[in-house]
Amino acid sequence: MSPEGRQAVPTPETMNTAPHFILYVRDQERARAFYEAALGVAPRLHTPGMTEFALPGGAVLGLMPEAGIRRLLPTLPDPSLGRGAPRAETYLRVASPSDGLARALEAGATELSPVRPRDWGDDVGYCLDPDGHVLAFAAPTPTPAVGPAVDLRPLDPEHDVARIAAWLEEPDARRWWGDPVTALTEIVDHDPGTVAVVVWEGRPVGVLCWQVPTREELEDAGLADLPRDLVDVDVLIGETDARGRGIAPEALRQLCARLREQGVRLVGMGAAEANAPALVAYARAGFVPYRDFEEDGEGYRYFTRELAEDA
Ligand SMILES: CC(C)(COP(=O)(O)OP(=O)(O)OC[C@H]1O[C@@H](n2cnc3c(N)ncnc32)[C@H](O)[C@@H]1OP(=O)(O)O)[C@@H](O)C(=O)NCCC(=O)NCCS
Repeated sequence: MSPEGRQAVPTPETMNTAPHFILYVRDQERARAFYEAALGVAPRLHTPGMTEFALPGGAVLGLMPEAGIRRLLPTLPDPSLGRGAPRAETYLRVASPSDGLARALEAGATELSPVRPRDWGDDVGYCLDPDGHVLAFAAPTPTPAVGPAVDLRPLDPEHDVARIAAWLEEPDARRWWGDPVTALTEIVDHDPGTVAVVVWEGRPVGVLCWQVPTREELEDAGLADLPRDLVDVDVLIGETDARGRGIAPEALRQLCARLREQGVRLVGMGAAEANAPALVAYARAGFVPYRDFEEDGEGYRYFTRELAEDA
């Protein structure tokens, strides 16, 4: 085609400001409250008929009442008739997709798909805003670092019981696992198929155990809505020089892969809000916050990780 025949294609240079994307919403106030909580920022404009949020990079997300667009463009079909049919999505690149999705769910969104690596190179979680618009939180999938050399092996009562007993005496272990004698009994009495010793570079450094909680236990923690076949995991990196090296996250990833092969769909873990290392380690292992709850006056956060559709 000759140069004269080409259409003038607008380039970014021909646009004089960053783009505005406008969602048509049923209730402007409800949509404002949702996006303010989900994005974690106040609107830059909030006036009857239009709410605007400044997005990183300069774009603007607008919220306009459906009634307003009907008045403005009366020849269009009534937008309220299109509710529920996905025709577009807001795809936000954020620092932490898990935090973004958690904030949106907390603000009343409906989860569509949890944060997980997608084949275009992003970790993305999807939800529906209160008007039924698809909202995605994304970040580039981190390149996997070479993880620590971790293996899981069955518990060997003859050699492991004494070392686990010693690990449970350490102050942090005591704080989060409770009385060492009771904790040891629980580990040793566990079905042998549901305990594993965490081995790092050939040396036993910790223990994992997992179980299907009873209805009563879930109810006590206010988690009765979790599925009956949820598998709850406890972790201890007992050798203190092995902490802070990514060993628990790697051990948990390996356990999740094993449980997925056994058909488990959902794995959960609880950590006290004051247990910062555990909160970090669980997130590193791909767990996302599910709900906060209180037990014996201590604030806890329950994390879950879906396994069924993992890559
Ligand atoms: C919580 C625990 C399982 C984390 O395991 P881990 O293999 O150390 O996890 P990570 O290597 O991912 O480290 C997580 C965080 O621990 C903290 N940490 C780092 N070095 C540490 C050390 N020497 N000692 C304690 N915590 C340390 C850091 O905050 C680190 O995050 P960062 O890497 O962003 O700085 C482990 O510390 C542990 O077993 N603690 C005692 C028992 C417990 O709390 N169990 C879980 C709840 S029941």
